[in-house]
This record gives sequence, C-alpha cells and structure tokens, in this order.
Amino acid sequence: MDTAYLAEWANLLLRWLHVIAGMAWIGASFYFMGLDQSLKAPKDGDPLVRGEQWAVHGGGFYQKKKFIAGPGFLPEPLHWSKWEAYWTWISGFSLFVLMYYGQASTYLIDPDVADLAPWEAIGISLALLVVAWVAYDLICRTPLGDDGIAMAIIGMAALTLAAWLCTQLFSGRGAYLQVGAMIGTIMAANVLMIIIPGQKKMVAAVVANGPIDPRWGGWGKQRSIHNNYMTLPVIFIMLSPHYPMFWQHEQAWLLLVAMALAGALVRQFFNLKHRGIAAYDFWLLGAAVVVLVAVFIAPPKRAVVAAEAVPFAEVRTIMEARCVECHAPRPSNTAFAVAPKGVVLHTPNQIRRQAQSWSAQVRTEAMPPNNSTGLTESERARLLAWVAAGARLD
Ligand code: HEC
Repeated sequence: MDTAYLAEWANLLLRWLHVIAGMAWIGASFYFMGLDQSLKAPKDGDPLVRGEQWAVHGGGFYQKKKFIAGPGFLPEPLHWSKWEAYWTWISGFSLFVLMYYGQASTYLIDPDVADLAPWEAIGISLALLVVAWVAYDLICRTPLGDDGIAMAIIGMAALTLAAWLCTQLFSGRGAYLQVGAMIGTIMAANVLMIIIPGQKKMVAAVVANGPIDPRWGGWGKQRSIHNNYMTLPVIFIMLSPHYPMFWQHEQAWLLLVAMALAGALVRQFFNLKHRGIAAYDFWLLGAAVVVLVAVFIAPPKRAVVAAEAVPFAEVRTIMEARCVECHAPRPSNTAFAVAPKGVVLHTPNQIRRQAQSWSAQVRTEAMPPNNSTGLTESERARLLAWVAAGARLD
C-alpha cells in the first residue's frame, strides 16, 4: 500500500476521532457551564451545598448538587472530565501535523505570502503554539485574569494580533488552522495544567481532611469559563477550510476575528439564558456581525468573457494542464492517492456535471491550491466564461 493511501486513512481516522472527542469535550463544557449558571440555593439549606438543580432526562429525574469545598468525604468512584480534552488535542494536533506539516507546501505555505521552506513554516507554527499558551497563561495569573470584561477585550486583541500575524506568514487556509490550533492548544493546556492539577489538590485535601483553598477551584473555574467562550470560535475555524470565501479574502484576518466575536457573543447569550436572563441583544449582535461579514465579502461580479469565445476543447486543455494532476482517478501528483474530495475532472462529462462546484473554487481562487499549477488570470476568466455560457460540450 502506498503512503498517500495510508495517509488518507490516517486522515479519516484522526478526523473521526477528533470530531467525536471534541463533541464529548465541548458537550461537557456546555453542560457544566449551563449547570453552574442555573444552580439554585438548596431547598434543605445544606451549608456544604453551593447550589442544586433538578432535571428530568432520559426517563428519570436527576438531582445535581455543587459542593464548592467538597462534600466532607471522598466519594468513590469520582468521575473526572479530562480525556475528552486530551484526545481532542492529540487527534487534532496529529491531523494538523499529517496535513499541514506533512504537506506544508500544499496547505501551510503560500510563496506569495511568505516564501518559507517547509521546516521554517513548521518551526514557526510550533513556536506560535507555545507562545500562545505561555502569553495567555501569564496574563491569567495577573489580577486581570479574574476580570471577565478585561479578559474578553484582551482575548479579542490577542486573537486579532495572532490572526493578522498568521496571515502574514502562512497560506490563508493555513493561517486559519494555525489560529485554531493555538486556541485549541490553550484550551487543552487549561485542562492539563490548571484545571486538573487544581482538582487534584482539592481531592488530596479532602483525603487528608485538610482545608480546601477556594483558589484551587477558582483558577479552574476561571479557565473553564475562558474555554467555554472559545468553543464556538474554534469550531468555526475548524470548519473554515471548506469555505475559501474567508481565507482567500484580502482581509482574511479581520474576517476570522469578526466570526470569532460572533461566536463568543452567541455563547454569552446562552450562558446568560441558563442564568434565566433573556439577553437577546447578545444574540442579535452576533447575528449582526455575521450579516456584516456576509455583505462585506460578497464577491464582485467578474467580467465574463464573451460566451461563444470559449470552446469546450479549450476548457479541457486548461484543466489537463492545471487540475488533472490531482483531480484524476489516479492522480499523477504523488501527494494524492485518490482525487482530493473525490473530485475527478478527467472526462468531458465530469467537467460539465461539476461545473457549478468547480467554478466556485476557480472564482474564489481556492483552486488550484496556492495556484501550484500556475493557472493564469485569463485562463481563469475563460473557464468561468464557459460555465456562465451554460457549460456546453459542443
Ligand atoms: C495540487 C493539487 C491540486 C490541483 C492542481 C487542483 N486541486 Fe482541486 N483540490 C485539491 C485538494 C487537496 C482539494 C481538497 C481541499 C480540501 O481538503 O478542502 C481539492 C478540492 C477541490 C474541489 C472540491 C472543493 C470542496 O471543498 O468541495 C474542487 C471542485 C476542485 N478542487 C477543483 C479544482 C479545479 C477546477 C482545479 C484546476 C483549476 C483544481 N482543483 C486543481 C488539490 C488540487
């Protein structure tokens, strides 16, 4: 079996795992944030219980109670939430390495942005992952860390800087995923380095019958709230490779920041809603940002070359030269075992049938990736003109 074929399988399995682990992790984040926001003072006045919630789910009633300083004994077994986070990061980082480092010149590097050698791009990418965590962690340890509004402002400013910097270094698509990887790394490191160690201290104190320092739980809570606000932005970024309209744009960095802001605002709406506050203004603000982005990036109409000027034979010739090394049943480009995304542009019928989908890729300049095959502006215009004139084979 050749390596490109095995890589395709590794890609599938890692992606599958990443989505599953991510659902479990983010699901738990939503669940516990929602729970925390909706806790009510205990009806029986138990002084150890900070709050309680009754719920009905899956055919039964549940009573949930939060003991800030522990219940006074160590419950066995005690459920921890951490492997969801670790596996999300492990699978996500492995997938990032497989695609963006393994095929750096296809996915991570755009010579028109910065003419980096693969090892340079990979080195910068790794360094940025570390820098993002260290900088974030240091800020959290200052008094600002406990100020929600200050952290929201600092977070957006840092995101803006990161997005701008990455679009100066990497391909548009690579820049987006790099920022996503930085956020994901911060989130996973929050669990590994802060939340879980704090909880271990709490458990040790319960076992030793010693006092529980409320700061241990407080730090964890702070980070877990930050993680919660990062969920919707990071999911947007993980989906973004499908939408070149963002990362192909000249202001790709600004669009990323705007969409992340929209995600965080919607998250804020839900968090308040769980507290019983119907703050639809946050929801509306998030929606308004998305609408603004949509209007801002709406593509201008491309000048279409006179329709009859482009015979199919010419389209075929352009595709043979610019697309088919990858989009063939057996691609001659050794990076691919099968045609990427199953898109084969080999026969006249395949070209005609998929005209709408490939013209979108050609219009937004998503294809060829980083224009690796050197599609010229006039060839691009002629491909689009042929589609606009009805994609006829005669
Ligand atoms: C160097 C290899 C390469 C070349 C050359 C290339 N593509 Fe692609 N193409 C890819 C890859 C890789 C993907 C999958 C991108 C992804 O993972 O989202 C892709 C995806 C696509 C898709 C599907 C997009 C989607 O997300 O559904 C279309 C359509 C497409 N290419 C059309 C073209 C056309 C038209 C050309 C020539 C003008 C072309 N490609 C040239 C590698 C290539």
